[in-house]
Amino acid sequence: MSHPLDLPGGFVWGAATAAFQIEGATSADGRTDSIWDTFCRVPGAVVGGDTGEVACDHYHRWPEDVALMAELGLDAYRFSTAWPRIVPEPGRIEQRGLDFYSRLVDGLLERGITPWLTLYHWDLPQWLEDRGGWTSRDVVDHFTEYALAVHGALGDRVRHWTTLNEPWCSAFLGYAGGQHAPGRQEPQAAVSALHHLLLAHGRVVQELRAVDPTAQLGITLNFTVPDPVDPSDEADVRAAALSDTMANRVFVEPVVLGAYPQDAIDALAAVGTALPVRDGDLEVIGTPIDFLGVNYYTGTAVTGHAPEPTEVMPNGAPVERPLSNPSVGVVDAYPVSRGLPRTAMDWEVQPEGLERLLVRLHRDYTGPAGIPLYVTENGSAFDDEVGPDGEVDDVERTDYLVQHLAAVSDAVAAGADVRGYFAWSLLDNFEWAYGYEKRFGIVRVDFETQARTPKSSARTYARAIATGAVPLGGTVRA
Ligand code: FCB
Repeated sequence: MSHPLDLPGGFVWGAATAAFQIEGATSADGRTDSIWDTFCRVPGAVVGGDTGEVACDHYHRWPEDVALMAELGLDAYRFSTAWPRIVPEPGRIEQRGLDFYSRLVDGLLERGITPWLTLYHWDLPQWLEDRGGWTSRDVVDHFTEYALAVHGALGDRVRHWTTLNEPWCSAFLGYAGGQHAPGRQEPQAAVSALHHLLLAHGRVVQELRAVDPTAQLGITLNFTVPDPVDPSDEADVRAAALSDTMANRVFVEPVVLGAYPQDAIDALAAVGTALPVRDGDLEVIGTPIDFLGVNYYTGTAVTGHAPEPTEVMPNGAPVERPLSNPSVGVVDAYPVSRGLPRTAMDWEVQPEGLERLLVRLHRDYTGPAGIPLYVTENGSAFDDEVGPDGEVDDVERTDYLVQHLAAVSDAVAAGADVRGYFAWSLLDNFEWAYGYEKRFGIVRVDFETQARTPKSSARTYARAIATGAVPLGGTVRA
């Protein structure tokens, strides 16, 4: 049964990737190591010892990938630029790195695909980490220098700029949990990183605005929807509220409202950490943005009562969701299964959470400020099976996609100003600490041959783009 989507005119249909996850060519054209190159060399840090050295070889195969995007009918492509390709060592701008993105942008524009550029999707140059990384306030100046260099090369053609992707992950998984690069496990370092990430975001919005007043500038945050497993249990309600504070509010409030939530400050103080805020910082962080990018994968039911230990990452750290990372010691919140279907990441499939999230963000934060929302990532990993003719009939991923598109449509019908959706991901790729084991692509990548094969989900997505409708109800097939 075809279900028409209730989406505004000009709705942007896109797909997303990130530099380190797809490019490969990690030492080509003057690029130096990022923290992820280093992290991949740590025994046990990444499943199977996988690295980003080849990945999807997108650095060389980008014309084929752009052709695929055109075939699917995408309006826009969200990608990130690799900082260590562009500033491979202190003070040196690498023209060959800029040229690569310039060719990519031209290739997109020739096909009528709008480039959405993210400046930071987790691949900090290693030379900067050696100087303290995001824990050091100096990173803000370096990020500004890098952003201006990218803008200088591409600003005439790229109109949509995102400063950061998911600073929650950079700060908490990178510096407290240690599941992500640089693999540090120091709560105060994570809290300092959080503040410097947001400060770097605000500074770059100011600087880009100054040189390019009509550019569309935004940030992408990852959100979860934590619900108390028992709404009548005080500990569960507290756990859900604190999860929300530490996963969602501590990022969106300084960016949109210009202030950290007091309960986040209190919770951080209770574990002996503090945000290194100086006078004027919050004005910078709260510099007006033109859009808010929303990444949503799953919601979580939480309890405040400690259950049995849960799954651990390859390096022994706790699983990376729920988003209230326990390794900073702030939140006693534990995920509880609601019996919903799960993806290969073990994340519950909860499309209704996306609708609620978008409606809430619009009501409480972005709506009053007139800021539109874009879903900049949403998608699912499943263990795909390749059929006899090489086809991938990924029924579960297709269902996930369809249900979440319907949730976006429901949010729009409920009044949320949502103007676009980017599927994560265009391609199967390097899924961080999970290496190549977890496949999120709507296009399959055979990592032996680098062959690309659109899965059923890609076909369904293309049809949704072409018709504005999704096949809701019943099993979805290509
Ligand atoms: C998000 C990341 C993205 C990808 C998806 C599955 O947290 O932004 O790079 O790993 O999760």
